[in-house]
Amino acid sequence: MRFKSLKGIHDILPPDIHIWQHIEGTARDVFRSYGYREIRLPVIESTDLFIRSIGETSDIVEKEMYTFLDKGGRSVTLRPEGTASFVRAYIEHHLYNEPPPQRYYYMGPMFRYERPQAGRYRQFYQIGAEAMGVDDPRMDAELISLLSEILRTVGLEGLRFEITSIGCKVCRPAFREALKGFLSDKIGGFCADCQRRYDKNPLRILDCKVPQCIEMRKGSPHTIEFLCNGCREHFERLRSYLDLLHIPYTVNPELVRGLDYYTRTAFEVTTDLLGSQNAVAAGGRYDALVEEFGGPSTPGLGFAIGMERIVSLLKDGFKVAEVPELVICFVGDEAAERAFLLAQELRLKGLWVETGYGDASLKSQMRRANRLGARYTIVIGEDELRSGSVDLKDMGSGEKTTVSLDAEAIAGELRKGR
Ligand code: HAM
Repeated sequence: MRFKSLKGIHDILPPDIHIWQHIEGTARDVFRSYGYREIRLPVIESTDLFIRSIGETSDIVEKEMYTFLDKGGRSVTLRPEGTASFVRAYIEHHLYNEPPPQRYYYMGPMFRYERPQAGRYRQFYQIGAEAMGVDDPRMDAELISLLSEILRTVGLEGLRFEITSIGCKVCRPAFREALKGFLSDKIGGFCADCQRRYDKNPLRILDCKVPQCIEMRKGSPHTIEFLCNGCREHFERLRSYLDLLHIPYTVNPELVRGLDYYTRTAFEVTTDLLGSQNAVAAGGRYDALVEEFGGPSTPGLGFAIGMERIVSLLKDGFKVAEVPELVICFVGDEAAERAFLLAQELRLKGLWVETGYGDASLKSQMRRANRLGARYTIVIGEDELRSGSVDLKDMGSGEKTTVSLDAEAIAGELRKGR
């Protein structure tokens, strides 16, 4: 019996893992300078948490959740995103008692039962950030600049920042009515899902991926045309702060988020290089969510970066220099033991050192050193054991340097060559 990973779910192996580590490491550094602290959240939560935050009529909740009953008969779901869990934890641990803004980040797998294709997976990874307690649009601009800085420092260029405002509970009813008015005589031609959403949550119709629905909703009104004074001012100030920070963006009034919890600012970072799965990161404000979950009224906003998508953008230009510093080869049993001990001593000094096992011939040991791409090799034989010195061979230039057969001396020489 041979097992394979599930459809849309992948292993992440070297050399790709180096790109993942590079992105994660860079993101951690940037988060630190913006005052974000890491939070680790469970990958499984009560199903209701996601239904109530992401929205009953969203594609995620209607079609994409990994939901099942646990042995106690409770409905649980593998998290399709991080914000709902974050807000649950924020309230559960009274994090709102810390001085605002409370800024957190997380990294980890999310699960959506989508139709897999390039850039769209059933288990995928996000780096997410959430900033709580401030409704000032300077916070929105700061968050977008943080995102832009992460993407820039990992090495991505030419990304588009698209922003819009989707209003709040004050201005949404007027927009909803205008949208329903626009759709009323066409709705019969929309897919069954959209027809159902027409009464329940017509805004979701704008997010439907069915080609005939996309075609028929062309020319529909935009949230941005219906903003109340508070939302309009918030959006205008956000734009002026983005200008102040020299962050280029475009206003995209057609931008619709697939999750129901958003208010006011919504944004997406897109690229032309990934085909239809063109969003590498996305986010926005959710000023009503904490209160809806029973916490004190607290504004919040955040984003999530799709790891696989930025990994695939970085893949081509990425050079990995992860090779052993030294491969120790040997001839004979006594030399094998010396090599074994020397490898251990050098590893304790923080160097990546390899040696052979069993009774491999010198030729096969050297072949392995070449395959691993080792920077240096040494060969320990009877002569070296007797003389107490060994030739350290630079595998790039072929140059040899004689050093004493001793961990301290070899480590010193290896560090010089770095
Ligand atoms: P989202 O737009 O659903 O937002 O996902 C954010 C990013 O995750 C997307 O732009 C995309 O890069 C990546 N992504 C989503 N689904 C998949 C998939 N099936 N396969 C690969 N990558 C995917 C959220 O998840 C919100 N929680 C973001 C947020 C945080 N808003 C406020 N705070």
